[in-house]
Amino acid sequence: MSTSTRISILPFSPSTLPAETIPGIEVSIVLPTYNERENLPVLVHQLQSIMAGVSFEIIVVDDDSEDGTWQVAEKLRVLYPNISLIRRIGRKGLSTAITEGFLLGRGRYLVVLDADLQHDARLIRDMLEEIPKCDMVIGSRYTEQTGVPGWNSWRLKLSRAGTVLAQKALRQKVSDPMSGFFMIHRKLIHEVADQLFRSGYKILFDILQKRPDLKIRELQYDFKPRVHGASKLTAAVMLDFLDLLISRAFPARMNVQIVRYGFNAVTSLAACFIALYGLHVLLGQNYPLALAIATESALLSSYIVKNGWKAGPHGLPSPAWRKGLLRYHLACLLGSVLTVAVGWYLVDRGISWLPASILGIWVGMSCNQVTSRFLKNER
Ligand code: GDD
Ligand code: MN
Repeated sequence: MSTSTRISILPFSPSTLPAETIPGIEVSIVLPTYNERENLPVLVHQLQSIMAGVSFEIIVVDDDSEDGTWQVAEKLRVLYPNISLIRRIGRKGLSTAITEGFLLGRGRYLVVLDADLQHDARLIRDMLEEIPKCDMVIGSRYTEQTGVPGWNSWRLKLSRAGTVLAQKALRQKVSDPMSGFFMIHRKLIHEVADQLFRSGYKILFDILQKRPDLKIRELQYDFKPRVHGASKLTAAVMLDFLDLLISRAFPARMNVQIVRYGFNAVTSLAACFIALYGLHVLLGQNYPLALAIATESALLSSYIVKNGWKAGPHGLPSPAWRKGLLRYHLACLLGSVLTVAVGWYLVDRGISWLPASILGIWVGMSCNQVTSRFLKNER
């Protein structure tokens, strides 16, 4: 008798399933990672001892880090069977990484913390004590302490200003609405997941805004300085702050993507036209060369707005940053050549430099839009 004749397949439908969806796991710990190969194993080891006696799982959500963090997570998975890994290809961003980790989580409660050892993982035990009495527990940096070690003064000021604005935008009183460390009931995440912003990093703020009815508790912890790796949120902090300002000014829900795209477009066009005007009109430089330099200024500006400035040793840009810049230039090469060619051709035909450049830039930008669809997204 063949195997297929021996196996009988039972009729099955959603109504046959049990009503309860919690398979005995108390808490799922989500660790978003981007280039954290040094930090991840330390944190995972810490968590195994901190969480002793609790049924828990760890979900690492890595955005295909260039430093091989996902390979480190794979090895950790051999050591500890309670680890899962989502390796996201071609998708980046802290908010969606956390959401995806949460949605995979099987625990009664879900908690997220940074994988870079800046958050005090021991707080999870205290959070677990509090969470049955409320909807969400937030690890807060500001309830008692006044500064964050390792932050320069502008980062501190931006963070402060962002926090104050965010507090004004929320109906609940929360001392650290931009915290990246919080615990929530799993069923609540499934209720809000489809309403969360797709970009940015202020997922907590987003949840609080969507659900002003949540009962919140806050626990204080010390935000530690980073030892390995670098922060990824330097430029994002500024953009999210701008986004917050705009969403305060226009209470109707604005799409964060439009704000980012608009900010990037305005700054790179400004860089381009300032360079072109300066070189061609004020200094009398020949038009095609001026337009080529102006196009380069726009590319540089756009890359810095998207990626920030990541310093490596000796204050020079880090190797990953430079590699990204090179890739970005290659991706925009055809568009840049077209910009200069179209502008040059039109000026050659007697058209004034301004309309010629606008048309050239429009053609070049459209070309970049098309090519970027075929290439992997830059961070
Ligand atoms: N998967 C994924 N994708 N992970 C990311 C990404 C991303 O695009 N960007 C950052 N991460 C991971 C980092 O690897 C780290 O584990 C964590 O998210 C926080 O990133 P950092 O780059 O270390 O953030 P930070 O220390 O500057 O910012 C802190 O303060 C913010 C408020 O100002 C964090 O605690 C944030 O969560 C917090 O919102
Ligand atoms: Mn950090």
